[in-house]
Amino acid sequence: MTRIAHLSDLHLLEPAVGTRRGKDWFRVHYLSLKRSLDYVSRRARAEQALRAAWEHGFDHLVITGDLTEDGALVQYEVLADVLEASGIPAEKITLLPGNHDAYGTAMPWDLAIAGPLARWADTSREGGAAWLDDCVIVPVSSAIPQTFLRSSGRIGGHALDHVGAIASREPGRPVVIAQHHPPYAVMHQWVHGLLNHEAVTGLLEARDNVSVLHGHIHRRKERGLYAGGPLRIFSPFAVADNVAPLRMYEVADGLLHPLTALAPRPDPLGAVCRDVEAMGSVVLRDVEAIGEHVRRDVEQLGEALRHDVESLGETLRHDVEQLGEALRSDERGPAVRRA
Ligand SMILES: [Fe+2]
Ligand SMILES: [Fe+2]
Repeated sequence: MTRIAHLSDLHLLEPAVGTRRGKDWFRVHYLSLKRSLDYVSRRARAEQALRAAWEHGFDHLVITGDLTEDGALVQYEVLADVLEASGIPAEKITLLPGNHDAYGTAMPWDLAIAGPLARWADTSREGGAAWLDDCVIVPVSSAIPQTFLRSSGRIGGHALDHVGAIASREPGRPVVIAQHHPPYAVMHQWVHGLLNHEAVTGLLEARDNVSVLHGHIHRRKERGLYAGGPLRIFSPFAVADNVAPLRMYEVADGLLHPLTALAPRPDPLGAVCRDVEAMGSVVLRDVEAIGEHVRRDVEQLGEALRHDVESLGETLRHDVEQLGEALRSDERGPAVRRA
């Protein structure tokens, strides 16, 4: 029976993230607002999750996006290094991009899959697939170019056609779509969700041998297409946020069946630390903003005072001149009269 391991949302950083300046500094701070900007701990969490998956045993591992924090090529190099060090054969891993993997430069995922991630391209590129004994895993990109203030996604029609073609070619074989965004509406859908999620649910409704593994919501979740129906859509906790993010599934009767023995443990202390860090950075920003306001007010006050003093001096100078003129006129007056 085929076993699939599922991880998501590594949000890896680069070692020199602390030296960023300007807009690169602002982007990574904004995107990491609720997470510590610590390269070492992010990497350690990814390594720990891969180790847990490998020790548990699987036929294939799927990592459903947000592999990096903001799509910098050097972060993809870190990912390649971590995957390489895990000892997991490249053909047993499927990767795909999330919204975080598409920020920064124009097409960072394309550069990564042709560069540092080339070893994993056969199972991870658009149009590729991992053919296992009793199922097929198809990576689908929902990453789109957009400002880092948004986190939405969209799946291209050709990608869904590719899944549909595989599903109809082998109707008895389970097909697993691996994608980043959930195939249903979420809160703040227009800015955070999969913009054409109906296209995926339409495919699920048309093909009962198709299931979805996704990430993005950073929560362990599972659901069917209707109440009481079989589970078809699954997500794990984020590797970046949770100490036990691994999910495992077995393939049977045309569907995925989650192995519930690996119930994730909550990480309340980590959550509190992250909240305090996030609060601290917000307070720091507020203090910086207040300082800037005060500096501007003092400058404006100084400018107003300088102007008032100049204007007063000018008035005094004018008054003194007039007084002198009057005195001189008084002195000349009697002389004229005497003449
Ligand atoms: Fe994420
Ligand atoms: Fe995401």
